Amino acid sequence: MSNIELFNPYDWAFHDDPYPIYQQLREEHPVYHNPSLNFYALSRYEDVVNAFKNWPVFSSSAGVALENVSADVSKVFSMLGQDPPRQQAVRGIVRKVFTPRRIIEQEPILQRMCQQYIADFPEDSEVDFIEQFAGKVPMDLISEMIGVPACDRDMIRGWANDLIERVDGSPDIPPKAIEGSLGLLGYFGDMVKERRKTGHGDDLTTSMLTAELDGERLDDEEIVSFLFLMSVAGNETTTKLLANALYWGQKYPSEFSKVQVDHGNIPNWIEETTRFDSSSQILYRLTMEDTTLHGVTIPKGVKVALLIGAANRDPSFFERPEQYNIDRDFRNNIAFGKGVHFCLGAALARLEGRVCMEELFKAYRSYRIDEDSLVRVHSGNVRGFSQMKVRFAR
Ligand code: HEM
Repeated sequence: MSNIELFNPYDWAFHDDPYPIYQQLREEHPVYHNPSLNFYALSRYEDVVNAFKNWPVFSSSAGVALENVSADVSKVFSMLGQDPPRQQAVRGIVRKVFTPRRIIEQEPILQRMCQQYIADFPEDSEVDFIEQFAGKVPMDLISEMIGVPACDRDMIRGWANDLIERVDGSPDIPPKAIEGSLGLLGYFGDMVKERRKTGHGDDLTTSMLTAELDGERLDDEEIVSFLFLMSVAGNETTTKLLANALYWGQKYPSEFSKVQVDHGNIPNWIEETTRFDSSSQILYRLTMEDTTLHGVTIPKGVKVALLIGAANRDPSFFERPEQYNIDRDFRNNIAFGKGVHFCLGAALARLEGRVCMEELFKAYRSYRIDEDSLVRVHSGNVRGFSQMKVRFAR
């Protein structure tokens, strides 16, 4: 395989096992260059972490996908498509309302949601895990937090799902995905206007209208962008995390049995899943100046892929990284990124992972995935399944 073909970001996410490629990149091409698509990739743990921290050189201003996005589109992605100081200002205001306390308060709500979906499982407990559980809970929880009424949640979830629609092997954004974005943006725009008029409620959207930091508030457009970002960053990633946990639990029965014996091991199961096979494995940056690493100069103005998935398997930072081991030391896990853009929803994602699994395994003792039913998503950024038939057993 030539150096150029080694890493194709358009078929990577649905590659059943990208880890041998990651290993080859780390060992042989620590600064990988793909001239036909003109991007670079970093795969060693230290390089990925340093690039995350070095935002003046590795900028988010052109978005976090391979394709550059225009300044207008970038605005829609709120802080994710910005660099400090603006990114820090927006993040600072959002953090005033997206607090640890608000996250903890979601636990009983989440429990009820899970119990309801589990109660709707058919008699034989055979479900499409994505369609009937993992693809529902994350967006419903976001809807609950931001104040979308129950009657609109299916519609919101539909747009959020359309948004991530991609055509195999094509980097273009299909019309359905554009319609999904416009649907969400229009809905959130109306919701913010409505809240400004009526001005009461204790949801996140209402709190954001008056939240301020150093005397500064977010305008309506910025609030809409943040609501949109939550739907993009917090929905699919969490759906994939839940299914990936079941998948690896089945592949490594000895690890799942630790969970069966003691549900107190669920947080570790979730954490190891994010390290071992994270739903968010590639994020791109745009170089603001020439920068030299391992003797290779990456020029100014190109996209650089930061391979989180490869870094999280770097043997210099993880003992026996190729093993799925829920008892390992997780301190170096960078599934939720590093530096100024560190995932704002990491605590929420961990809470969702824990509560969903607690509720499932309160109701059931074990499960079996029909491996023939598995379908992977075709996406440049997200890794995981879009279909997974599972039979749960009591
Ligand atoms: C398994 C689930 C999740 C994973 C693996 C994940 C991963 C990440 C990563 C790696 C970043 C850093 C992006 C960058 O450096 O460019 C990020 C940012 C972000 N995440 Fe998550 N995330 C998850 C769930 C969530 C949830 C549930 C929410 C909220 C509802 C959320 C909200 C955000 C936001 C707002 C940012 C942007 C922060 C900034 O730019 O300052 N994420 N996430």
